Amino acid sequence: MVTVEEGKAKIILDGVFYNPRMRFCRDLDVLIFSSIDSKEILDSLAASGIRGIRAALEAKKMPKFNDIDKKAVEVIKKNLEINGIDAEVYNCDANKLFREKKFEHVDVDPFGSPAIFIESACFSAKKYLSITATDTAALCGSSTSSGLRKYSAFAVKTDTHHETGLRILLGFIARQATKIDKAIIPIASWTFEHCYRVHLALKRSSSAVSRIYEKIGYIFYCKSCNAKVVKGFGEVLENCRCGGKFTQIGPLWIGEIKDKDVVSKAVKIATGKARKFLTIILDEVDVATSYDVQRVAQKLKISTPPIQSVVEKLRGLGFKASRSHYCGNCVKTDASLDDLSEIVTSLSHQV
Ligand SMILES: C[S@@+](CC[C@H](N)C(=O)[O-])C[C@H]1O[C@@H](n2cnc3c(N)ncnc32)[C@H](O)[C@@H]1O
Ligand SMILES: [Zn+2]
Repeated sequence: MVTVEEGKAKIILDGVFYNPRMRFCRDLDVLIFSSIDSKEILDSLAASGIRGIRAALEAKKMPKFNDIDKKAVEVIKKNLEINGIDAEVYNCDANKLFREKKFEHVDVDPFGSPAIFIESACFSAKKYLSITATDTAALCGSSTSSGLRKYSAFAVKTDTHHETGLRILLGFIARQATKIDKAIIPIASWTFEHCYRVHLALKRSSSAVSRIYEKIGYIFYCKSCNAKVVKGFGEVLENCRCGGKFTQIGPLWIGEIKDKDVVSKAVKIATGKARKFLTIILDEVDVATSYDVQRVAQKLKISTPPIQSVVEKLRGLGFKASRSHYCGNCVKTDASLDDLSEIVTSLSHQV
């Protein structure tokens, strides 16, 4: 029988789902799990149980497991034995389990979209929630109708659609959570290859819930010149300065997408590629707009200056600016496209 080693875990698969490409994502998860104050985690769509097993072995959590598939449950039980872990394993529809039992931390890692699980997962999770979405077409705007159906949000494929995709997912979770009087507090959010992953804390507080809509809004996007402007609910924007029309992307989360303390704890214990990735996330500025500098330069018909120089110049002029974890040529900044274009021009030479 094939065995797989990942982190400190050794597992068998016996025909059950396991995606080796998600290994790096699980490496990051374990670092985040280790950096939050919790004891228990439910791996609610567990398949082989790899994530919960790693949470136990590497982050010292008390895992619980669930999968609707009987075969997966058998494999999880064998894997628990192999790894010397004693844990409860449920064989239930996750949504039913979420309505019946509460867990300190709920992890939701489905095939494709997590949309159908989110409201009940928010109901079940007492403190923390971790969610994966691999339906990138719906979130990034390559399938507008899927985005509308699954997330009730309008996504557009821009030069930085990973940023908006992540924020559409967070905005959707936030809106689902408010229905049951919970406010979300994002802890760590990233996109990597074909996956979006968010870790959140949940707070039962009517004042936090009533303020949550200050953190949800839209990005007004001009298809003609690529300008992006963040606006809250109920705010409107007339035509773009270039004369083009704005399209509203969202609703989406416009607040902070990480907790600096948690991510800096994770950075301290991380090594290698995970440390590099989490350091970029830690250094990201708290703004919802970003631009691909190469595209900006192409439009201006000039060469692309080094991205780090653009970031430094923006900061020198008083703007918020940083690199981004999802694109080497992108800057996250609160500067307008006009200001950014001026800076890119000043650092470039004509081609
Ligand atoms: C993408 S796999 C999970 C992968 C796993 N978390 C990992 O890290 O390798 C999704 C799993 O969810 C299970 N599943 C699908 N729908 C479910 C439902 N409604 N309730 C519980 N489990 C479900 C499937 O049987 C499958 O094992
Ligand atoms: Zn414009």
